[in-house]
Amino acid sequence: MLHIDHSEFADIIAELKARPLQVNEYRNKAGSGRSQTFGVVGRRCLPPDASRMNWLRPKLYQHLLEFAEKYVAIPFNSITVNQNYRADKHRDKNNKGVSLLVGFGSYTGGDLVIHEGDLSGNHSIWCNPIIADFSKIYHSVEPFEGDRYSLVFYQYETSRSVPLPPFSVKKEGDKYYFYRGDEKILRTTGLPHPLRKNNKPMILKEDKEVTVTFE
Ligand SMILES: [Fe+2]
Repeated sequence: MLHIDHSEFADIIAELKARPLQVNEYRNKAGSGRSQTFGVVGRRCLPPDASRMNWLRPKLYQHLLEFAEKYVAIPFNSITVNQNYRADKHRDKNNKGVSLLVGFGSYTGGDLVIHEGDLSGNHSIWCNPIIADFSKIYHSVEPFEGDRYSLVFYQYETSRSVPLPPFSVKKEGDKYYFYRGDEKILRTTGLPHPLRKNNKPMILKEDKEVTVTFE
C-alpha cells in the first residue's frame, strides 16, 4: 500500500490548527467531534450542491484539492475532514463506489476497525490510505490519544443529485475564493437559496462561523 510522507499533510494541519473545524451537530449517528465536508453535500429538501465549507474555508479546500491531485486516484466530489473525531460503528451513506480514507497527525491508537468482509480487522491508516466501499462494511475508530486527523474522499450521490458546474478555488492576491463554475461565491452571501427570500446573508461577521440552517 502506498505510504505518504507525513510532511505532505503540513499545510492541511497548519490550517486546521490555526482555525479548528466546527463541531458538526448533524453527525450524531456516528459519534461526536469535529467533522466537516467539503465539495458536494446533501441539503435538506434540495438537490446536493456546494458545501458552505467551500466558501467559508477556501484555503483549506484548496490544500485538500492539492493533496488529492497528488494522492487520490479514485473519482470523488466530496471530502470529509475529521479532527479528533472518533466514529462509532456505522456504514456510510450516499456514497457511490469506493472511498479513500487516510489518517495523519500525532496520535497513538486510533486504528480503523472493519467489522465485516475481506478487510475485517484493525488497520493503521496513518499516512497509509485505504480504499473500500464503506457503505457496504461496518467500520469504527479505536480510542486514541493525541491529535488524530483523517480525510475521506468519495463520490456523494443521491436520488436528488443533478449535474453541477465544476468547483474550483482560485488565489487572488493573498486570498482564496471558491468558484462554482464561473460564479464566485463570497462568504458574505453564499449560494442563492431558492426557498429564502432575497437571499439574506447567512454570515454576519467576517471571520465568525455560524450555525448551519441546512446541509
Ligand atoms: Fe464512515
